[in-house]
Amino acid sequence: MTYSIIGSGSVGKALAGRFARSGVTVGVANSRGREAVASALTGYGEVVHPFSLKDALAADVIILAVPFWAHLDVAKAAADWEGKIVIDVTNAYGVPLSDLGNEPSSAVVARSMPGARLVKAFNHLPAHLLAQDPRTAGGRRVVFLSGDDDQAVSAVSDIAGRLGFAPVSLGRITEGGRLVQAQDKSWAPLIFQDLFKKEG
Ligand SMILES: NC(=O)c1ccc[n+]([C@@H]2O[C@H](COP(=O)([O-])OP(=O)(O)OC[C@H]3O[C@@H](n4cnc5c(N)ncnc54)[C@H](OP(=O)(O)O)[C@@H]3O)[C@@H](O)[C@H]2O)c1
Repeated sequence: MTYSIIGSGSVGKALAGRFARSGVTVGVANSRGREAVASALTGYGEVVHPFSLKDALAADVIILAVPFWAHLDVAKAAADWEGKIVIDVTNAYGVPLSDLGNEPSSAVVARSMPGARLVKAFNHLPAHLLAQDPRTAGGRRVVFLSGDDDQAVSAVSDIAGRLGFAPVSLGRITEGGRLVQAQDKSWAPLIFQDLFKKEG
């Protein structure tokens, strides 16, 4: 599996740091090109590579860490989404539900990328916590996953585990996944819940 992060802001950098510390190769892109990524990501070591958006879109697993509506531009930038695993880290906080057709925001993102297998993950934690080592003396920091494709959820669970987190699946996006979908100006019940799973 190859991995990329689209977005080199607070979340993109936090997750890039986790890839770096876990020794898992990742490419990072933003809207301004490889050189801008390189200057945003100094000191992340050898496994974090500045990518063009085009190169980032070629990865098997694409982590979407852009402002919510920017997903539309990212969606248009790929010729084909078929089979791609997209990890949706966006939060549509403050977006009126009517602008989303009363659907969870991840369903809206998924529809813009036909054929992609979308898993919502990592969005419930603030960037400064995502950046921290998820392993403590007693356990590992929980990340919630939701998605409609079991194989994609399993692949995201795998990379979350390799990054040091304890993945917990909530089920489908329109079911348990609603617990991590911001709704207009309300945060969902599991957003900001910083839980740890005990080892053993
Ligand atoms: N901040 C948090 O604590 C937090 C936690 C969980 C989830 N989230 C969610 O995660 C997402 C990112 O948040 P953030 O705080 O990291 O935002 P941010 O610091 O503003 O960074 C956004 C990044 O997205 C990139 N971007 C924007 N449009 C793009 C496009 N069309 N193509 C490629 N890259 C594009 C920007 O690139 P340029 O630099 O080139 O403009 C920038 O690197 C948001 O949806 C947010 O709601 C945030």
